[in-house]
Amino acid sequence: MAVGVFDSGIGGLTVLDALTKRLPEVPFVYLGDNANAPYGVRTADDIFKLTCAAVERLWEEGCDLVIIACNTASAAALKRMQETWLPANKRVLGVFVPLIEALTERQWGDNSPPREVDVKHVALFATPATVASRAFQRELAFRAIGVDVEAQPCGGVVDAIEQGDEILAEALVRSHVEALKRRMPQPQAAILGCTHYPLVEATFAAALGPDVKVFSQANLVAEALADYLARRPEMLGSGQVSKFLTSGDPQSVSSKATQFLRHGVSFQSA
Ligand code: DGL
Repeated sequence: MAVGVFDSGIGGLTVLDALTKRLPEVPFVYLGDNANAPYGVRTADDIFKLTCAAVERLWEEGCDLVIIACNTASAAALKRMQETWLPANKRVLGVFVPLIEALTERQWGDNSPPREVDVKHVALFATPATVASRAFQRELAFRAIGVDVEAQPCGGVVDAIEQGDEILAEALVRSHVEALKRRMPQPQAAILGCTHYPLVEATFAAALGPDVKVFSQANLVAEALADYLARRPEMLGSGQVSKFLTSGDPQSVSSKATQFLRHGVSFQSA
């Protein structure tokens, strides 16, 4: 009864942490494609191919349902996977929609027409590929009207985290927040639209200031999965064992994951 969780690297572990707290009885198989990270500077085609390969690997672990705990893959590949590639007995779920539902005060699956919502000025921080896809704005437009979104492509942040360079990652975050604030001086809400960013969330929050509500995805995705599994329990696959897989070097990935998450994580070769 395992569920797969995929990210280009260690960022999806922020989602996995929330999933294991919310659903302690479910075994999760995590796969980080660290050898090919970051995805945020790749083409949509490339991201599609890499994400399909990773999802196939998780099927081998008995995971019929895979959470794409990566905004870049969710933005650039998920729709195409669902429409053109996925067999009928498998499912992939992304991390975008639960976040946008929270921002627009909607319950899961509320497909009523777009309406005015409280928040009017939203700062989006994401990878260059996610920003370029405009997937966030597209999904938002289905649900809300009159929301002004200013998007900041945060080049370099995922790379710095994957290299284990916390100081560089934090310096880059500060400079990206400054750049955004030059264009939108007073955002009401900020979206951390990359699952790596909760690993430097304190730096985002400090740079944005106390008046900005910061939305990150982990708990929202965990609630969405709990809700999904209550409706579709048959999507729990045959896998029984939780594990951490990486396409990179297990030792170095384990040590970076442990550094950023502040608890021990032990990866094995995918
Ligand atoms: N954690 C991925 C995301 O949520 C990072 C993508 C990347 O590898 O650049 O977008």
